[in-house]
Amino acid sequence: MTAASTRSAWEALERQQQGGPVQLRWPEDLGTVVLAIDSEKGGVGKSSLAGGLVAVMAAAGHDVLAVDLDPRATLTAELDAATPEGDAGLPGVNDLLYEDQNIDPGELPELRGLAEQAVRPAGPQWGEQVQVLAAERALAHRESDLTTPNLEHRLALSLEGFKKRFRLVVIDLPPRAGGKLVGAGLLAATHVLFPGTLDEDGLIGVQDARKTAQRIARAHPATLRPVGVLRNIIEPRTRLAELSDQRFVDGFDDVLDVVVPKRIVRREARTACVPITTATTRDAQDLTNAYTLVLNAIAEVR
Ligand SMILES: Nc1ncnc2c1ncn2[C@@H]1O[C@H](COP(=O)(O)OP(=O)(O)O)[C@@H](O)[C@H]1O
Ligand SMILES: [Mg+2]
Repeated sequence: MTAASTRSAWEALERQQQGGPVQLRWPEDLGTVVLAIDSEKGGVGKSSLAGGLVAVMAAAGHDVLAVDLDPRATLTAELDAATPEGDAGLPGVNDLLYEDQNIDPGELPELRGLAEQAVRPAGPQWGEQVQVLAAERALAHRESDLTTPNLEHRLALSLEGFKKRFRLVVIDLPPRAGGKLVGAGLLAATHVLFPGTLDEDGLIGVQDARKTAQRIARAHPATLRPVGVLRNIIEPRTRLAELSDQRFVDGFDDVLDVVVPKRIVRREARTACVPITTATTRDAQDLTNAYTLVLNAIAEVR
């Protein structure tokens, strides 16, 4: 879509709220989509978006894997998965990205497919379809890890083979400019989505994330497909928000026609660790519709 034909965020929202519930269109023949959610700013709604997409896929009966690459473990908490810290010895995503220098190289586990041993189910509210590669604080050490060989390739390798059993793998990236965790997530991804709030942080977060994604895509041609820029947590229309929206439309040539509105129920669902799809209010339905439309847009990227 060209900038000239892109609707304002509020026009897009009004249009998307006119119809009833929308149907998820996730073609049977679509292979596993590994979606990285990428912005180099925090607070733009990455983890909430990840949780919303997981909820809609699971509600439709699809198997989903959530990969939490943020040491703050926001997504892990929302999915109510047991944390590596809380349950000693339970492995998480950090264990996939780290190679213990004290282990004899001959004794190291085979990395290909190793993710299978690090997943755990999401909490009971999320249903059997949702599996999680959980984050923990120690994941932050990977940013300065100089001894683990090929750190940035380890997530991709450990998902090989194993990811086939999921229709969608959602990777929640940390807001760390060009860091190793972001690199690891992008190298494992087939698709990348750039959410941005309609403010300075949102805009800069998308601009910077796209630079890093382009660098990765150049190094690994044809593996990383950009889905586009998603205007996220849309507040009521004000002059200031309108100006920001215009900067998105003018600044990026792939702004999606779907937007995610700001709805307080999104925070409530996170706090309660329940999927947004289980709430039945109009506000919750607005969010479910928006996340469904985002998934439909992802499925259309070929
Ligand atoms: N659609 C939404 N409506 C209202 N609040 C939202 C929405 N999406 C996210 N939020 C809130 O915005 C804040 C930042 O969201 P979060 O997903 O943690 O961002 P990030 O992962 O980019 O740091 C959180 O308090 C979250 O509850
Ligand atoms: Mg987050």
